[in-house]
Amino acid sequence: MEQKKAKVCVIGLGYVGLPLAVRCVEKGYETFGLDMDKNKVDLINQGKSPIEEKFLADNLPTHRPKATTDEKIIEQSDVILICVPTPVDDLYMPDLSPVISATKAVVRNLKKGALVVLESTVNPGVSEEIVKPLFEEAGFKVGKDVFIAHCPERINPGDPKWNVTNIPRVVGSFDKQGLATAVKFYESIVDGAIRPMKSIREAEAVKIVENSFRDINIAFVNELAKSFDKLGIDVKDVVLGASTKPFAFMPHFPSCGVGGHCIPVDPYYLIERAKKSGFDHKFLKIAREINNSMPSYTVEILQDALNELRLPMKGTKIGVLGISYKANVDDTRESPTFKILTLLGEHGVKYDTYDPHILKRSTIKTLPALLKKVDALIIATDHKEFKEIDPRIFKQNGIKVIIDGKNCLDKDAIKKLGIIYKGIGR
Ligand SMILES: NC(=O)c1ccc[n+]([C@@H]2O[C@H](COP(=O)([O-])OP(=O)(O)OC[C@H]3O[C@@H](n4cnc5c(N)ncnc54)[C@H](O)[C@@H]3O)[C@@H](O)[C@H]2O)c1
Repeated sequence: MEQKKAKVCVIGLGYVGLPLAVRCVEKGYETFGLDMDKNKVDLINQGKSPIEEKFLADNLPTHRPKATTDEKIIEQSDVILICVPTPVDDLYMPDLSPVISATKAVVRNLKKGALVVLESTVNPGVSEEIVKPLFEEAGFKVGKDVFIAHCPERINPGDPKWNVTNIPRVVGSFDKQGLATAVKFYESIVDGAIRPMKSIREAEAVKIVENSFRDINIAFVNELAKSFDKLGIDVKDVVLGASTKPFAFMPHFPSCGVGGHCIPVDPYYLIERAKKSGFDHKFLKIAREINNSMPSYTVEILQDALNELRLPMKGTKIGVLGISYKANVDDTRESPTFKILTLLGEHGVKYDTYDPHILKRSTIKTLPALLKKVDALIIATDHKEFKEIDPRIFKQNGIKVIIDGKNCLDKDAIKKLGIIYKGIGR
C-alpha cells in the first residue's frame, strides 16, 4: 500500500477519532470520518469541533476530514481506524456492541486488502474472538483479503504536552504483513515511537494494564485519604513529600471520585474476561470499589462539617462547583458529580450547580450568583476558574463550609477566615 495515496476512514468521531482524523488530513491522507451522529458530522463538515478540545480548536478548521453518516465510504478506504466507545452498563458489564456494529459495517463494505485497526480500548481477546471471526464468517481471509491490527489509543484530551501527534504507540496484528503495514502507517502520522507487539492480545492488554495501573494507584491514595482523615494527616502533603524520592515512587492524588470514559470503565473489561477464563481479579475489583465509594465519602464529610455547625443537610443551601470529570474540559462522562448530586438528592438537599464549561447543565449560570446563594460548597472539579477564587470572596458571600473534593484550594487561607474546610484526606 503506497502510504500517502492510501485513503483513510476513521469510524467514530469522538475524543479519540476526531483528533486522529484531523492528524491524518494534516499528514496528507485523504481522510473520511464516519459517525452515526448526524449533528456531529454536520458540525465537523463546517470545521467546528463538537467537543471543547484545544488540539481540535487549533487544527480542525484547517484540516477537516470529510465526515459522513454513510458507511459506503468504507468501500473507498484502504485504512480503516475504528474508534467507537467501549462502555460498561449499569452493572459494570462491558458493552462491545459499538465495536461489533462498526466491524460489521467494515465487513459489509470492505475493499479487499484494506488494513483495519481497532483503536478502541478492549480486553485481551476481542480482536481474536470477536473482530476476526466477523470477517471470516463473511468469507474473508485474514492476512490476505484483510489485515487486522490493534493500536490502543492513549490520548489524554486537554493535555497541553501530549496529543495525537506525539504520544508513542504500540501495535499488534495477526500476521507479519498486517503488523508491518500498521507500524508503517502509524509511523507516518505519529512523531512518537511505534512499538510492534508480539501479538494482538498483548497490544490489547497494554492499554488495560495502563489504565488499571492508574485506577489501583488512585484507589491506594483514596484509601490513604480515608485513613489519614482519622489520623489527622494531610495526605496531599505526604504524597508531595514522598514525591521527592527520585525513583520508585509516582505521585497520585485522592479526590471525590474517578471519572471519564477510561479509568472507571476499562478495568471491568479485564475483570470480566479473566473471570470467563477462571481468574478472579481481586485487586482490580477492590480498587474499583474504593474509587466508586469516593462520592459518598465526599457527601459524608460534608454532613460531618455541617454537623459541626449544627446545620442540617436538608435545609442548608449547597452549591456544587464542577460537572465535568476533569479540569478545564466539558467532558461529563462517568463524572463523580452526578453521583454526588444523586446522594445529595437522597438526603433531601436542595442544591445548585455551576460549571463554566457546561452552562447548559448548570442550575446557576454565573459563579458570583452561585456563591451568593449557598451556605456550603463542594468543589467537584478543579477548573482553573475555581482554583483562582480569592478565599476572601467565600467569606464575603457567607460561605460557612467548603468541601474541597479535588484538594485544589488554599486550605490554610480558607481556615484562617473561619470557614470550615475539609479536603479529601486533608
Ligand atoms: N476519551 C478518551 O480520553 C480516550 C482515551 C484513550 C482511549 N479511549 C478509548 O477510545 C474509544 C473511543 O472513545 P471516545 O472517548 O472517542 O468516545 P466518544 O463517545 O467520544 O466517541 C465515539 C464516537 O463513536 C460514534 N459511534 C458509536 N458507534 C458507532 C458506530 N457503530 N458507527 C459509527 N460511529 C459510531 C459515536 O457517535 C461517537 O461520536 C473507547 O474505546 C475509549 O475507551 C478514549
